[in-house]
Amino acid sequence: MQEQIASLKADITARIAGTDSIAALEDVRVAALGKKGSVSGLMKGLGGMSPEERQVMGPALNGLKSDIAGDIAARKSVLETAELEARLAGERVDVSLPVLDHAAGSIHPNSQVMDEIAEIFAVLGFDVAEGPDLESDFHNFTALNIPEEHPARQDHDTFYLSPNAEGVRKVLRTHTSPVQIRTMLSKEPPIRIIAPGRTYRSDSDATHTPMFHQVEGLVIDKDTHLGHLKGTLEAFLKAFFEVDAVTLRLRPSYFPFTEPSMEVDVQCSFADGNVKIGDGNDWLEILGSGMVHSNVLKACNLDPDVYQGFAFGCGIDRLAMLKYGMNDLRAFFDGDLRWLRHYGFRALDLPTLAGGLSR
Ligand code: PHE
Repeated sequence: MQEQIASLKADITARIAGTDSIAALEDVRVAALGKKGSVSGLMKGLGGMSPEERQVMGPALNGLKSDIAGDIAARKSVLETAELEARLAGERVDVSLPVLDHAAGSIHPNSQVMDEIAEIFAVLGFDVAEGPDLESDFHNFTALNIPEEHPARQDHDTFYLSPNAEGVRKVLRTHTSPVQIRTMLSKEPPIRIIAPGRTYRSDSDATHTPMFHQVEGLVIDKDTHLGHLKGTLEAFLKAFFEVDAVTLRLRPSYFPFTEPSMEVDVQCSFADGNVKIGDGNDWLEILGSGMVHSNVLKACNLDPDVYQGFAFGCGIDRLAMLKYGMNDLRAFFDGDLRWLRHYGFRALDLPTLAGGLSR
């Protein structure tokens, strides 16, 4: 019996040493220590032995078992290191190679504009926040001070999903404002975020598509006021349109989630069918904004006597059309290669304020 143990041990040890992969090692382990394995088979024999025999063989077999387990663990770590090294060697990228054919793909104007906006607001100290496209009624409407029977629900041409088993129906978010709610519910003020993303309304013509893009802005702190809103928007629009100055006109408006609410126009001129932002005799409506309504703060468990702030929402596609001179929004989503090549941006040209946003 002792010899049998010694030769089994020699055999298994040799097999372990001969494995060249984790999978092969696992096969050896199962063949030795698995339920029907050779070592387990010997262990089962212990039951039929006399107490004297068992006193000798018990410790011998247990020693065999733990020696083999130790050998397997040691081999496993050797194989794991080798496999990792092989994988890393296989994935090695030669970063010194020239970029081939980088003009073949291009950045969509929408992505470009989102990157530009994120860059401008990053410099102003804003984080980028995100939320889901499929929203709950609570986040898209109720918490934004648009209760069930509120007429503003009709204004949004909402896409509703079929109700689930509990009769609850989700919506495709009609604006990025639900990200305000998600942010206020999950973070302590001070809050400074922008939330770019897809939004949906049942609408389609030259300047409306059922899916479009918005960027939301939200600032909440103890002493944030309307002056901060105006200053932030001026800094944003000046940087975005790459002009030395912009003049804004804040018109009183109405949004259920802000009070007071303002529509913001920029001064511009229309010459030869081109819009020039910055000066001129015309005004172009560019975004909606206001001071966050106290009901919205309360819905997010913030005390309106302590905290206040501003929010704004703006169409990204519309900004892209204005800045880069496209006049049909539907072309944005046609995937026509000629359009993409003409209006697309070079993939390696990341917009930065210092280096120039659009050059
Ligand atoms: N959510 C509004 C819209 O889609 C825009 C907005 C956002 C207005 C934030 C005020 C404050 O029209």
